[in-house]
Amino acid sequence: MTKGKASAPAKIILFGEHFVVYGSPAILASINRRINVEAKKGKDGKVTIRSDIAAGEFDGSTFKLIEGSNARAALEPIYFAAKQILAAKKQQAGLEIDINSDIPYSVGLGSSAASLVATIAAVEALVGKPDRKKICESAIEAERIIHKNSSGADCYVSTFGGLIHYSKGEGFKKIENKSTLFMVIGDTGIKHNTGELVSSVRKLKETNQMGFAGLMAQSKDICNQALAALNSGNADQLGMLMNENQLLLVRLGVSHEKADELIGIARESGALGAKITGAGGGGAIIALAANKQDSEKIAAEIKEAGYSAFEIEIDSRGLVIS
Ligand code: MEV
Repeated sequence: MTKGKASAPAKIILFGEHFVVYGSPAILASINRRINVEAKKGKDGKVTIRSDIAAGEFDGSTFKLIEGSNARAALEPIYFAAKQILAAKKQQAGLEIDINSDIPYSVGLGSSAASLVATIAAVEALVGKPDRKKICESAIEAERIIHKNSSGADCYVSTFGGLIHYSKGEGFKKIENKSTLFMVIGDTGIKHNTGELVSSVRKLKETNQMGFAGLMAQSKDICNQALAALNSGNADQLGMLMNENQLLLVRLGVSHEKADELIGIARESGALGAKITGAGGGGAIIALAANKQDSEKIAAEIKEAGYSAFEIEIDSRGLVIS
């Protein structure tokens, strides 16, 4: 094979972000926005990586910037993951990796997990035999370079796709949702650093163990109720639980005034519920609507206020290797 190609989806977290890092469950879904990666063999053991936001060349411990600010930090986990595969296959060859994405980055939609999953799969397709479980494990290992306490949830949902229930202890289970979920993403445009937000929550946990345990119990309870609401197709209940989940995220200090503004717009435009999705600190919000007409209205109102917004659908394919 001269080229390895793969694509992996973005994700949303409907319930349980942050608490999932400490073993509580989360409900996530992969969505219809993707990262496409092409890998081919390069010269002299060098690994060149080009994405929409950064490009650079790794030659052993030397990094040559081609384009983008903070490129080394953005590309290093991808380089690490690709190099691990070459080393395992005892390959001396270099690599050229091209990444194209329609996922807004650093706003909580899982662009870094998707880029790792798709890159590892593309390189495996080029030099070996891709195996989903191993790809997911390698992506989690590489993600921990960026944020060392990753729960692994983002990589799971990007690899296996669909609507899932995930916890560190129990792994992931697919959820059969009974009805279409009409959902909208609103993007505050404020980029966040997941590792820093996870660390800030850890500090809060360390300074108030009892208080944190109480919030975690509530998050678990919300996830359990949400699972029942998904199983019975009760969108009103789901929306209400999203609003409750948002209150917990506010208590963790990971919401943001712009996210609060977008959540307010979504609710005033008829959303059944709205919350931040992912790490927070700006980033993206997710709103649930009763029907297509309402989701169109919510997206239009968020855009009217000067932000980016788009309707989404659940993507059940997960990682696609071609
Ligand atoms: C980030 O998308 C989700 C967090 O819960 C972190 C994690 O699960 O690793 C904030």
